[in-house]
Amino acid sequence: MDEKLKQLAYSLVEKISKEVKKETRNNFYKLGKTIGIGADGSPTSYIDQIAEDVAIKTLEKSDTPVNLLSEEKGFVDYKGNYVFVLDPVDGTRNAYRGIPFYSVSLAIGKSKISNVEYAIVKNIPTGDVFTAEKHQGAFLNNTRIRVCEMPSPEMLSSISLGKNYTPRAGKLSKKGNVRSYGAASLEMCLVATSALDYYFVGREILRVVDIAAATLIVREAGGVVKTITGEDLDMEFDATSRTSVVATCSEALLSILLPKA
Ligand code: IPD
Ligand code: CA
Repeated sequence: MDEKLKQLAYSLVEKISKEVKKETRNNFYKLGKTIGIGADGSPTSYIDQIAEDVAIKTLEKSDTPVNLLSEEKGFVDYKGNYVFVLDPVDGTRNAYRGIPFYSVSLAIGKSKISNVEYAIVKNIPTGDVFTAEKHQGAFLNNTRIRVCEMPSPEMLSSISLGKNYTPRAGKLSKKGNVRSYGAASLEMCLVATSALDYYFVGREILRVVDIAAATLIVREAGGVVKTITGEDLDMEFDATSRTSVVATCSEALLSILLPKA
């Protein structure tokens, strides 16, 4: 991957993260205020818009042309060969409720998740940075990370429940130690570091901007990312499609989670 593009991606993630932190300090009371409707038809919060504006300003001024697919604005053609697939704030509700678990997520690719070449997910409150480059591995703060070799004896997972409840999610949640953290990109990165054995979203609710970066990070850490029907997860870069996700440390665990009918 071109160094200039990587540098641009890093500086964009840093700028967004700084701005979100500043807003969290100075304007916390209005972070969650709905101020419009995003490209996928869901509400845009004040903090989503502030974060995305940083991206647009930066890419408009950049002398390295790169297109943008972002949660609120959708696709913007800046006449580049690559696309930055960006969720300026993943875990918006956590951010505006004051739960310190939300990220900037950025993937670089041409047209779909399976051809993403580079990925960055930054945990804004902690400053931790997860990265991956295709065929080069996955890293947390520049240190190589790997999924656990085997499911751990003390199985730990994050399962999306609530209004996303499915009978299978309900069943799985009774079997092990379950957390549900509310930021898909970071929950998948926890599978990549082996903090979690798996992450499970049984309904088609996740968008490409939420998971494009984390999918490469999990795969480069040796993990598996599939849909609820057991296919390799792939998605075109578009603002409206949605998918289920099962990210696990191994195929063996996957066959336990998704037994063939
Ligand atoms: C949301 C988070 C959440 C997931 C939702 C996503 P957002 O992203 O990743 O964990 O359950 O489906 O939309 O809206 O905070 O960017
Ligand atoms: Ca978002």
